[in-house]
Amino acid sequence: MMNDWAGLPATYGDVLRRAMDSLFRTFENFSEGTFIVDAEARVVWINKRYAARFGFSDPQQAIGRDCEAVIPNSLMREVVKTGKPILLDILETDREPLVVTRLPLKDDAGNTVGAVGFALFDELKALTPLFSHYSRVQQELIATRQSLAQARRAKYTFGSFVGTSAASLEVKRQARRAAQLESPVLLLGETGTGKELLAHAIHGGSARANQPLVTVNVAAIPDTLLEVEFFGAAPGAYTGADRKGRVGKFELANGGTLFLDEIGDMPLPLQGKLLRVLQDKEFEPLGSNRIARADVRIIAATSADLPALVAAGRFRADLFYRLNVLTIQAPPLRERASDIEALAYAMLEDLSTQARGGNHFELQDDALRLLCSHGWPGNVRELRNTLERAVMLSDSERIDARALAPLLGMTHGAGGTGTSAGVAIGTAPTTHASSGTPATAAEPASWSDAMAAFEKRFLSDALRANGGRVIDTAVQIGMGRATLYKKIAAYGIDA
Ligand SMILES: Nc1ncnc2c1ncn2[C@@H]1O[C@H](COP(=O)(O)OP(=O)(O)OP(=O)(O)O)[C@@H](O)[C@H]1O
Ligand SMILES: [Mg+2]
Repeated sequence: MMNDWAGLPATYGDVLRRAMDSLFRTFENFSEGTFIVDAEARVVWINKRYAARFGFSDPQQAIGRDCEAVIPNSLMREVVKTGKPILLDILETDREPLVVTRLPLKDDAGNTVGAVGFALFDELKALTPLFSHYSRVQQELIATRQSLAQARRAKYTFGSFVGTSAASLEVKRQARRAAQLESPVLLLGETGTGKELLAHAIHGGSARANQPLVTVNVAAIPDTLLEVEFFGAAPGAYTGADRKGRVGKFELANGGTLFLDEIGDMPLPLQGKLLRVLQDKEFEPLGSNRIARADVRIIAATSADLPALVAAGRFRADLFYRLNVLTIQAPPLRERASDIEALAYAMLEDLSTQARGGNHFELQDDALRLLCSHGWPGNVRELRNTLERAVMLSDSERIDARALAPLLGMTHGAGGTGTSAGVAIGTAPTTHASSGTPATAAEPASWSDAMAAFEKRFLSDALRANGGRVIDTAVQIGMGRATLYKKIAAYGIDA
């Protein structure tokens, strides 16, 4: 710095001296405390106010002591050691924190001979705008971290899995056992049978429960982005990549569980890479030359027929065997009709608490009988959706078969209830749309029924033409994958 002033007219040197002089004086006058240490970080001078703040009624008592013995948490020793200033810092004290500035003192040869410290603002009053911004940002950071941690915690526990049928009890028994173990879990079963719920419960019941549960829905992410999603990318690794790079889900899930939903949709090249991670616990973020390691427990789920995909060469056999260690088959709802009542009541309870006005919905006996006779191709999700619509459409808190029938694509009794526009999505009981014919035998009762019947047949045909592959179908018909999945579930199409 001094060199910048060299060679200037003498008057400038004078200004410089005055500048230094008044700088010190201003700081000293306005600061709440000033002190100076020597090259060994021992106090050589301290003003009265500052000494008093730290319990020395006479500043002389502080002289000669180590700086930390006078001012706990002092970083003057670091300044003396490095010769570098700490221009702005917050010093925590047993009272309010102080804003401090620490500057090295140099001799003519540039050697550090000591340091001077100013505690600029007591109670941070003068810095209120800056400090309140700082505390707000810090509060937001804490809140965001909490909600992120919340989001990564298991949403469901074993208690969320309603059902006391033999099939349900067996599934829960297997899932509880899986929670005690570390090997990969494979959850199979039709759509809406509770695979995601089980994945959450297994994580939540495992030793990893306090670590993150990270989900990747393989079907919802374009193939080209999946690798980065999984393994992350070095900064600038690909066109359009974040300049900062990206942390992959494997790294995010480190120590916890990675839930790979719709694993049947995973492209073959990525299957190979996943297998490598499962075997070696190692992977390479895109465009980086570093080998990353992650301790991650895998739970995979699919509603696809994985052995059939293996036979068709669309799913790697070695990966299938690797995943097929603890396999849990979630049974379709039609095979555990005795659970329907408990499920329906649990769901109505849930819907009642969500409903305005604190309504308490009940099922008439005929409504319950109707629910038990339905085939539920969309399983528990379909049951929930049906009850949700029934609650929305019902004028009374007592839901009867007459109100439910049109929601299930049935006509009931004398009819006359099938005209509601909310009744668009309905299928005949136990019908699986494996034939190209419309699911319902009856004439559509309204425009919305006709549209629904057409849409269902159109989607079934498109899926069949693509060998049941949802991704290919979505691309071909120009529909988003997530939308297609929802429609498949809602119509109960056997994809
Ligand atoms: N046994 C159950 N008890 C209570 N709720 C359940 C049960 N099974 C499923 N559900 C509920 O049904 C809905 C669908 O479940 P989930 O998402 O776990 O199904 P899934 O098998 O993952 O379906 P998909 O293959 O379509 O992804 C969720 O709202 C879930 O909470
Ligand atoms: Mg799911």
